[in-house]
Amino acid sequence: MNIYQFFRPFIFKIEPEKAHNLALNYLKFLPKFSSLLSSSKNYENLNNCVFNLNFSNPVGMSAGFDKNAEIIKSLFNFGFGFVEAGTTTPVAQAGNEQPRIFRLTEDQALINRLGFNNLGANYFYENLTKINKTSSQIIGVNIGKNKDTIDSVADYILLLEKFYNYADYITINISSPNTKNLRDLQNEDLLNDFLQKISQHKNNLQKISHKSTPILLKIAPDLEFEQQKNIAKIVLDNAIDGVIISNTTIARDFNLKSSKSLEIGGLSGKPLFEKSNEILRNFYRLTEGRIPLIGVGGINNAEDAYTKIKNGASLIQIYSAFIYQGFSLVEKIKKQLSENLKKDGFKNISEAIGSSVK
Ligand SMILES: Cc1cc2nc3c(=O)[nH]c(=O)nc-3n(C[C@H](O)[C@H](O)[C@H](O)COP(=O)(O)O)c2cc1C
Repeated sequence: MNIYQFFRPFIFKIEPEKAHNLALNYLKFLPKFSSLLSSSKNYENLNNCVFNLNFSNPVGMSAGFDKNAEIIKSLFNFGFGFVEAGTTTPVAQAGNEQPRIFRLTEDQALINRLGFNNLGANYFYENLTKINKTSSQIIGVNIGKNKDTIDSVADYILLLEKFYNYADYITINISSPNTKNLRDLQNEDLLNDFLQKISQHKNNLQKISHKSTPILLKIAPDLEFEQQKNIAKIVLDNAIDGVIISNTTIARDFNLKSSKSLEIGGLSGKPLFEKSNEILRNFYRLTEGRIPLIGVGGINNAEDAYTKIKNGASLIQIYSAFIYQGFSLVEKIKKQLSENLKKDGFKNISEAIGSSVK
């Protein structure tokens, strides 16, 4: 039993959002605490260059855990190869009414309807620009629109410009189920227009700054095949650098056991695994492996991470399993993944990407 498993019954007695804030405060004020708790190792066969960035390992912290870029350094101490902070919006907003995070313990899942609660892009920016990071610590900035904004596209452009020089990559999040009409931006006509504008702005920023910051799109798992086809085409047409698959699901047809399973919001964790894998595989085929994909949804162990990689993910992210299993999960995934690759005759992770999709 590790230290997290020992404390978990006590932590799970606390209401989920309070427990999360408590953990954030610990990690914010005691960043060294996290380095005491874990020892991060380098596995050479996990080193890979993706988006022209050198990732020391493919395991990332998914968006939503550190919405305000307050504990990025601490998260790296747990061994993550990259951390995606946010979603941040132009102006601070409170999000939906509490309670708005629910543990579905029997299902190893969570439901959240936070609604982009965050302290706004200025605070995020201050935190981000203060970080003294090493070149192997890759930081993604996940951006979203404010709830009451009239011009959604303008929100994304503003944030793109704000973070372009400081982020290693930027994720356009149009897939949270908890902001009204946000997912409509995934519709064919709106998305093409939207990504065209993003792409034009990126080109301008690139000319001025001489830096090419990869732009990624994070999509929902609740998309019909026809929609997936359209999105893949639009992404390629507009030179979007990668896709994150996927956000939480609004579906509930997973035979969930927990009494909280009918709460409104996005479901994450174990039940999401197969659903997000199917879309990942589809996207790998639809994009013909031309752009990197990040696989996220229901990863609980190294085997799951490996499955995502073989299904086409160049990188993977976790969130819910981190809540259930704690920080030691990251090192566990890295170690076993490294061994699995060797066992299967892959010299480097890059050779395994998409190997089961033909
Ligand atoms: C409490 C909570 C908050 C989240 N907030 C965000 C967010 O702000 N932006 C985002 O893109 N995804 C957010 N997500 C989705 C995760 O980044 C991830 O895509 C999803 O949980 C699936 O991964 P998992 O099954 O490993 O949890 C959130 C998830 C949870 C559980």
